[in-house]
Amino acid sequence: MSKDTILVVGGAGYIGSHMVKMLDEKGYNVIVYDNLSTGFEDLILVDNFIKGDIANTRKLDKVFSENDIDAVMHFAAFTQVGESMKNPQKYYKNNVVNVYKLLNRMLKHDIEYFIFSSSAAVYGEPESIPIREYLPRNPINTYGKTKAMVEDILEDYDRAYDLKYSSLRYFNAAGADESSKIGEKHDPETHLIPLVLKTALNEREKIYIFGTDYKTKDGTCIRDYIHVNDLASAHLKAMERLFEGESSEVFNLGSGKGYSVREIIEKSKQITGIDFEVEEAGRRPGDPPVLIAESKKADMLLGWQRKYSLEDIIRTAWQWHKRNQRS
Ligand code: UFG
Repeated sequence: MSKDTILVVGGAGYIGSHMVKMLDEKGYNVIVYDNLSTGFEDLILVDNFIKGDIANTRKLDKVFSENDIDAVMHFAAFTQVGESMKNPQKYYKNNVVNVYKLLNRMLKHDIEYFIFSSSAAVYGEPESIPIREYLPRNPINTYGKTKAMVEDILEDYDRAYDLKYSSLRYFNAAGADESSKIGEKHDPETHLIPLVLKTALNEREKIYIFGTDYKTKDGTCIRDYIHVNDLASAHLKAMERLFEGESSEVFNLGSGKGYSVREIIEKSKQITGIDFEVEEAGRRPGDPPVLIAESKKADMLLGWQRKYSLEDIIRTAWQWHKRNQRS
């Protein structure tokens, strides 16, 4: 089987590593390009790894010259909302300037297809729920702004240079591969599900609930959690759709169901069979009360079918965290 060659930028990260595994299993030739600033070499399950930064245009030129690359997937962004507000320079440089450089190298080497990891953060505090793609983008933090800026660049590059792209706006990525060989690994960890499971493992004393006075059913924030392998399968379908000559599009990727922070904690207690300490704390700045996707566009245009429920998300994440427990 002779398949296309895909350059996965940021393939040593949480979502990128799951993408790499899936592409490899589907028979694609995969090249991982990652500077390991937030990724981990042990998450890369293929042999072809180039340690490099996308800011390094000479190195990128070399990669593009020496390999017959058909498409580029980008997972190499910084993703911490709080940090993006404290240090916007870091975010504009890596998430915008470096992506701009990457796109220009792609144009130079006639690479036509780009799959971009965007975010629900582009919507800010949406005017209606569930969130549809046509709602106005109104990011309330620097991270979300960087994603919206790249979407603008992509729109212009498609119009002017015929660069074909899919911009995938993830909601809350969670869970781990069933193999438990790869999973959510961040340093520092800030996300709810891994922090809850680390508390169950006694790696943390307690879990804090950030805000209990939101106008939601139980006062805590509601999020739409989507399994990392469901995200990866959407990328694959989005890329194959572009290969078939279809137009550039923006897609929401979520489950369409929302769960509160309290529900996540309760489900995690059930699934792990472990009780742990929970403390109510103040709101975390910049948290929208409710984010739930409408992903019908991806269902219809990509034929995307989600395989994993919230239980599967917590179960697979739990398997991964148990296996990678701090000793
Ligand atoms: N939360 C807690 N306690 C914790 C950690 C999180 O109560 O210890 C709460 C948060 O306040 C939030 C919810 O759990 O209400 C989910 O928080 P996460 O940090 O897991 O995820 P976010 O929804 O903040 O962030 C996600 C992505 C971002 C993206 C954002 C869009 O991780 O990349 O959605 O708003 F920008």
